[in-house]
Amino acid sequence: MADKIARLTVDGFEGVIELPVYSGTEGPDVVDVRPLTGHGLFTYDPGFVSTAACESKITFIDGAKGILLHAGYPIEQLAEKSSYLETCFLLMNGRLPTKEEFEKFVGIIKGHTMVHEQMHNFFKGFRRDAHPMAIMVSVVGALSAFYHDSLDINNAKHREICAYRLIAKMPTIAAMCYKYSIGMPFQYPRNDLSYSENFLHMMFGNPCEEYIPNPILAKAMDKIFLLHADHEQNASTSTVRLAGSSGANPFACIAAGVATLWGPAHGGANEAVLNMLEEIGDAKNIPDFIDRAKDPKDSFRLMGFGHRVYRNFDPRANVMKKTCDDVLAELGIIDDPMLEIAKQLEQIALQDEYFVKRKLYPNVDFYSGIILKAIGIPSSMFTVIFALSRTIGWISHWNEFHSEPNKIGRPRQLYTGENKRDYPEK
Ligand code: CMC
Repeated sequence: MADKIARLTVDGFEGVIELPVYSGTEGPDVVDVRPLTGHGLFTYDPGFVSTAACESKITFIDGAKGILLHAGYPIEQLAEKSSYLETCFLLMNGRLPTKEEFEKFVGIIKGHTMVHEQMHNFFKGFRRDAHPMAIMVSVVGALSAFYHDSLDINNAKHREICAYRLIAKMPTIAAMCYKYSIGMPFQYPRNDLSYSENFLHMMFGNPCEEYIPNPILAKAMDKIFLLHADHEQNASTSTVRLAGSSGANPFACIAAGVATLWGPAHGGANEAVLNMLEEIGDAKNIPDFIDRAKDPKDSFRLMGFGHRVYRNFDPRANVMKKTCDDVLAELGIIDDPMLEIAKQLEQIALQDEYFVKRKLYPNVDFYSGIILKAIGIPSSMFTVIFALSRTIGWISHWNEFHSEPNKIGRPRQLYTGENKRDYPEK
């Protein structure tokens, strides 16, 4: 039912085209352009800058005001009072759990942390120097070959089991990617530990001695997971929805999300930030890099700066900055040269007219890389950790898509190629 009507006239077309306009609970109204095909017209919006591709109840972002809400709850409050697993429940169910529900949920996740033993062999086919994201894309896709007892996408119970399996197994797979790359044995999960403690154990533990997780680092890790849990219709989530629209199985869809996340304009930015800081090498080189970032002829961009939606500040970056300070203080890191470059870069960019005018602020990835490095995680693992965290967002959107009547995603185009022509006689 339309809340308002938009009226469109187009040169060369007769009459007025009436388009329904809908209002959500928050955010801009949307014009329903579907009647346009009946008039022989398409809309044109490369990069989906002003296109609402779906209706969703999961996450809301107001980029101008720097607001991020999950099922209505502000990200700052969740980061302070909730945990990653509770936020997973929230994203899956649209409400916070009761104490009993949460205990049951945690128990279910712990019951799924191991991966099928045959998957160990799967890892062994990779080169040791393979990028962990390359391994992760394949291993996540391969889950559909191991868990085909829950692949009926029209069965709500199956969809739920897949979500549990993914939340539980992603840390295990992520840590296996790392252990494989350094030639160390895989660590089986420990279900007596919390979600983030267990991840640190699988990353840094070894069979020869007991691993005791540092509570401050485990808390920081949990916050990194939570801050990356969902972000509305970003490139990877939209990919998961689009892949899901064809009826593909959930593990294949999540693998598509992992692949999309890998790019440096999206989740690959956290690794790119660290690489950039290393390339800058010394604070005296910062002005050269700032000049390069401003040069329209140079493809170099300041990684960790700018965001398609946030035009004021990234609320996740504010929380991440505070966590970054806590972790560095806990670890006694005060004069790290990389950190010094990051701090100076941030200050210069925040005052530089080019960045101020274009509203380019540090985003979540600018600080997360610094924290992960301080924890001892190599930069090649940063995007893997983002993928682990974002899996709950992807699977929640995939589930929302399948919980309602839906259509295969099939965009159209503005064709500018050759007109019809005949194949030449030879
Ligand atoms: N450094 C220098 N210039 C920049 C940057 C940057 N990081 N980001 C945008 N610009 C400039 C861009 O050149 C353009 O200038 P002009 O108007 O003179 O042509 C203007 O700002 C607008 O840029 P855009 O490419 O139209 O903006 P977008 O909304 O399409 O891109 C972005 C958003 C995040 C891809 C981009 O800002 C970027 O490449 N940032 C660096 C990569 C990064 O940190 N990505 C992580 C995003 S947050 C985590 C996530 O959600 O995945």
